[in-house]
Amino acid sequence: MKNIVVLVSGGGTNLQALIDAQNRGEIKSGKITCVISSNPNAYALTRAENNGIETAVIRRKDFDEFDKYDEALTELLKSKNADLIVLAGFMTILGKGVIKAFENRIINIHPALIPSFCGEGCYGLRVHEEALKKGVKVTGATAHFVNEVCDGGPIIIQKAVEVKDGDTPEILQKRVMEQAEWIILPRAVALFCEDKIKVIGSKTLISD
Ligand code: GAR
Repeated sequence: MKNIVVLVSGGGTNLQALIDAQNRGEIKSGKITCVISSNPNAYALTRAENNGIETAVIRRKDFDEFDKYDEALTELLKSKNADLIVLAGFMTILGKGVIKAFENRIINIHPALIPSFCGEGCYGLRVHEEALKKGVKVTGATAHFVNEVCDGGPIIIQKAVEVKDGDTPEILQKRVMEQAEWIILPRAVALFCEDKIKVIGSKTLISD
């Protein structure tokens, strides 16, 4: 059984999707053992507590240097015996230390079809604002491994979602969550826990 540690910053609907999938028995070889937030007021922490999951908070601003934050987060994750780390709306960039310590063991969910609408500064609602500004007819979500390139690691699963006339960033965000994120993130986590994802260079091979 793999220990899954989920990193959050906000509302935690992706965390909820993981908890729901776990409760339905869809994550057969893993268990969410800890939720760590960058924000002490994140509603995601309440979701974790409501489900009896241990929580912790680590804030970037409590460290004067980024390297010290990186080191502290790495140690915290090691102390939780994390086999898999899931970034579920985690809004702080990860440092080299944590990425190296957990190579190909960190999964992120991004609310667009990478390599579109991604990279530094492109997160949350901003992703959907950019998609609508460009006028794309299709967007979606991507579950991928995290490497040192922001939103650049090997892609695990993608799912497309239609953009409709009259969409606002909020309406589009909700549709992308419902039709893509909440489906592919638990799926990617389940596949990882069952050792069904092989990383070959910059790509993944899924055996299902
Ligand atoms: C989600 O849409 C997630 O994909 C996005 O933030 C939202 C968090 O919502 N993450 C990023 O943009 C990361 N680049 P949640 O807290 O309700 O899961």
